[in-house]
Amino acid sequence: MPLLSLTLIICKDRLNSTVSKSIIYKLITLINCILSLRLSSLCLLSFRLLSFRLLSFILKFYLCQKTPLIKIGNIELPDFPLLLAPMEDVSDPPFRRVCKMHGADLMYSEFISSEGLIRDAIKSRMKLDIFDYERPVGIQIFGGDEEAMAMSSKIVSTVNPDIIDINFGCPVKKVVCKGAGAGVLKDVDLMIRLTKAVINGTHLPVTVKTRLGWDDTSINIDEVAERLQDIGVAALSIHGRTRAQMYKGHSDWSHIARVKNNPRITMPIFGNGDIDSPEKALHYKNEYGIDGIMIGRAAIGYPWIFNEIKHYFKTGEHLAKPSVANRVEAVRNHLTWAMEWKGERLGIVETRPHYSNYFKGIQSFKEFRQKLVTYSTPEELFAVLNEIEDAYADYHFV
Ligand SMILES: Cc1cc2nc3c(=O)[nH]c(=O)nc-3n(C[C@H](O)[C@H](O)[C@H](O)COP(=O)(O)O)c2cc1C
Repeated sequence: MPLLSLTLIICKDRLNSTVSKSIIYKLITLINCILSLRLSSLCLLSFRLLSFRLLSFILKFYLCQKTPLIKIGNIELPDFPLLLAPMEDVSDPPFRRVCKMHGADLMYSEFISSEGLIRDAIKSRMKLDIFDYERPVGIQIFGGDEEAMAMSSKIVSTVNPDIIDINFGCPVKKVVCKGAGAGVLKDVDLMIRLTKAVINGTHLPVTVKTRLGWDDTSINIDEVAERLQDIGVAALSIHGRTRAQMYKGHSDWSHIARVKNNPRITMPIFGNGDIDSPEKALHYKNEYGIDGIMIGRAAIGYPWIFNEIKHYFKTGEHLAKPSVANRVEAVRNHLTWAMEWKGERLGIVETRPHYSNYFKGIQSFKEFRQKLVTYSTPEELFAVLNEIEDAYADYHFV
């Protein structure tokens, strides 16, 4: 009995829910009453049996307690969230909406130039569009000038995203040359100043996305993570490549795992790079112990990846591959939403690069693909989508 009482006391301190806590309190009081009443030995025997059952129930309950949700500022994400990576010319509102429908837990806009934002460049401003149905959503900015970053932080805050993300990972020469993107991996002091400028300009949580370091000989992600956390960064997404690798070779997640396992690190760490199947996602989840996974290229034309991974985590089984009809449906939505957002002409043009990926792997598809990327009215496009649905009604993906 005292053992049971002790277990309950330990459990109550580990429980979050006030309801569970109050039940535990009541049980403790009851046990203490029984002890003080010195019940007859027969009564005590049955209580011992009961308390044994109760003890095993409580231990089971305690062990089954869900791991705490992942939190970024006040934003609660489900356990082990799947994030849609920011991708230039890809992660726009229509694409994000399709990914949200298929299980993305947190999404980011493509990167937006801080210089462009403060010049009021229309192209940059348009990228600030976010919609309530896609929340939680983050807007990503980049730049190498503290003042421009501080001002963009204020501008971005006015459209009220859930998060502001800073890009310290873009490897492209024209970005790096301006001391932005992955360029700051060579100058961590500048990275910290830029990040402070963004944090000071907003009430929103600020996250960072970066790479392992400049090149193989200068991997500094451990120092970067600690220093970013110390100034208040709320979460870090790490692409497991160096800047020198660009997109070549493979992502090395062992460095990401080291950051995650650093006892000083308490902010969520999201792993990114080369996740393209439920098996790989599960393997990396178990092997590297990260808080969630960010997915980029594998979601382009295949937003089903998010729910496929979630289902595989839960059951160890694969969801059926989306049929051609499912793919046509996703394309119809994507195209419709793109036209609603950007207008008919731009919506049609900007959806074109997505078709190949949506219909990847279908035999003898060249003629349809040609029509999809050349037709310029919604009527023609929706008609060809109907044709595709009919022509491949019995098609099975392997
Ligand atoms: C077309 C494309 C555009 C990208 N644009 C951005 C961007 O705007 N901001 C950013 O942080 N990363 C950008 N990235 C990098 C991705 O977010 C991601 O880190 C990278 O693709 C690795 O993840 P993956 O293997 O899952 O694709 C881009 C990648 C691609 C392929």
